[in-house]
Amino acid sequence: MNIKEKIVLALDVETIEEAKKLVDELYEYTGTFKVGLQLFCGYGLEIINYILSKNSNFFLDVKLHDIPNTVQKAAENVILRGANFFNVHATGGLEMMKAARKGADTASEKLGRKKALILGVTMLTSISQDVLDNEFMINKNVSDFAIHLAKLAKEAGLDGVVASALEVEKIKNELGSDFKVLCPGIRPKWSLTDDQKRIATPYEAIKRGADYIVIGRAVTKSENPKEAMIKIYEEIKEGELCSQH
Ligand code: C5P
Repeated sequence: MNIKEKIVLALDVETIEEAKKLVDELYEYTGTFKVGLQLFCGYGLEIINYILSKNSNFFLDVKLHDIPNTVQKAAENVILRGANFFNVHATGGLEMMKAARKGADTASEKLGRKKALILGVTMLTSISQDVLDNEFMINKNVSDFAIHLAKLAKEAGLDGVVASALEVEKIKNELGSDFKVLCPGIRPKWSLTDDQKRIATPYEAIKRGADYIVIGRAVTKSENPKEAMIKIYEEIKEGELCSQH
């Protein structure tokens, strides 16, 4: 297994200096750096260009959600700025997701690059059943609704979804093994759970079929991030070895 390819490091930090330091320390172990709204709104292209200068990939976790034309143009710019991996809200609807695909593909073609990976965000984990029932007034079970949105994302030509490791098997069963799943809420055996509820260890998530695992505070808040990352690699390798015996 190529562990590095699966590791997505969440750069959820306050300052550009902290983000650059993490990139310096961890680029050899990280397939993709996740740049979310916090960092992107603060330091936009500066952090992106820094990651690119290390020949590393980044996942622009900006969750686009707007009318199809705006999303199409935004997706085009995301690719032209060097991303090959980003996400959109599936609740923007089929036409909006198709527009994201179209914008991204147009830009990739312009640059002569392979198609970008686009993931759909189905239901944010902060949206509970109660919110769905009483604020959105959608009378559906939250997990069934998330699967329904994942199906729409596939129909729109997206490559996968963001979901908890506990849902990977269900998604793969319903949508096929090629449909990618990126899993947050990953906690190594030795780390704190923080505010995450539906968690899995790195090895468990991969075993269940996760294509990408998001590692955040377990590494970024550790006293020695590189050592923490090496421990995660060891834990995954140990899991693999145990499963072979
Ligand atoms: O520090 P931690 O490992 O909990 O970070 C998880 C990352 O994944 C954060 O960037 C968080 O915003 C993101 N995420 C999440 N749950 C989701 C979607 C994204 O934790 N459902």
